[in-house]
Amino acid sequence: MSEMHAIQHRNFGDPAEVLEVVSLPVPQPGPGEVRVKLLAATINPSDYGMIGGSYGRLRELPAVAGREGVGQVDALGPGVSSVGVGARVRFPEGGAWQEYACLSASDLVLVDATVPVEQAAISFINPPTAYCLLTKMIDLKPGDWVLQNAGNSAVGLSVIQMAKAMGLKTISQVRREELVETLKSMGADQVVLEGSGWPKQIKELTGGDPVRLALNSIGGESASDQIKALGENGTQVTFGGMVGDKVRFPTRFLIFNNVRLVGFWWDKFCKTQPAEAVNEVRDAVHRMMREEQLKLPIAATYKLSEIKDAIRHDKNPRLGKVLLKP
Ligand SMILES: NC(=O)c1ccc[n+]([C@@H]2O[C@H](COP(=O)([O-])OP(=O)(O)OC[C@H]3O[C@@H](n4cnc5c(N)ncnc54)[C@H](OP(=O)(O)O)[C@@H]3O)[C@@H](O)[C@H]2O)c1
Repeated sequence: MSEMHAIQHRNFGDPAEVLEVVSLPVPQPGPGEVRVKLLAATINPSDYGMIGGSYGRLRELPAVAGREGVGQVDALGPGVSSVGVGARVRFPEGGAWQEYACLSASDLVLVDATVPVEQAAISFINPPTAYCLLTKMIDLKPGDWVLQNAGNSAVGLSVIQMAKAMGLKTISQVRREELVETLKSMGADQVVLEGSGWPKQIKELTGGDPVRLALNSIGGESASDQIKALGENGTQVTFGGMVGDKVRFPTRFLIFNNVRLVGFWWDKFCKTQPAEAVNEVRDAVHRMMREEQLKLPIAATYKLSEIKDAIRHDKNPRLGKVLLKP
């Protein structure tokens, strides 16, 4: 074993055009390092932003793509005694779409082997974001209503299941009718169809209670609808912009309802918060996965060498993440 597959790009651009499957030498761990073998990696919207050059932080080119995955330590460099071969760990973030990578043993993020591999692979970005949105933005109490768009996204499904475990109630906006019952079966309290004029029925949906928090990862009309549906002093958190359109807020709701608009970025949370705070979030996610309070669907699994098919699948309507395996 001297060569491995990796998905690389030499330019920023459309993933379908710039990504290539290349053969690279299998890296050897240096002093204090371990080598990690990929078990499964995820495709996320932020990968497209990083490959396309529009994300908040970019890699030097040429770059191995991918940010999220789980692996297993398969070789130790000189002087490493803190971890053993076989330990389950987060795959190094600087290029998760490759078969092996080395990193310092002190930077390892250990993952309890009782968390199923496919759940672990999707546990490092979207569920932690959902957890922070529900616990760090405003002080929510059991029984409070939370509104979100992209209800069937990985963040959205995490919000639904975590909210249920926390005693919160959710309204999820989706753009496909067939998702309504599916999301309800996963714990959603209310599911509404985008563009159906649902904000006018907000009082019937909540039984008259105010919506305290709205989570926006879409933008455009979907985000404006949220602002109309928020209760007085409600907060909208924007953490994604899938339509790539500006959020046009109806001014009167900021003035007369004192609605507050803020943002959230998990990458910044990890960079600015103490390690204990980040670990607390990761541990909470893994505990919920272990106890099956949080279980995210997998839409399909592809080999690294089938990256173009995997991306085609990912860009089509689906429920669940598309995974890559060696
Ligand atoms: N700020 C942060 O720290 C942070 C962290 C994690 C994720 N995010 C953001 O959260 C969002 C969800 O990520 P994810 O990985 O959970 O997503 P995902 O599982 O890949 O699902 C994508 C979702 O976006 C919807 N969507 C795609 N294009 C759309 C459009 N033009 N209009 C309306 N809906 C559209 C899809 O709906 P259909 O199924 O109907 O196509 C689906 O619900 C993304 O914007 C991502 O960048 C932000």
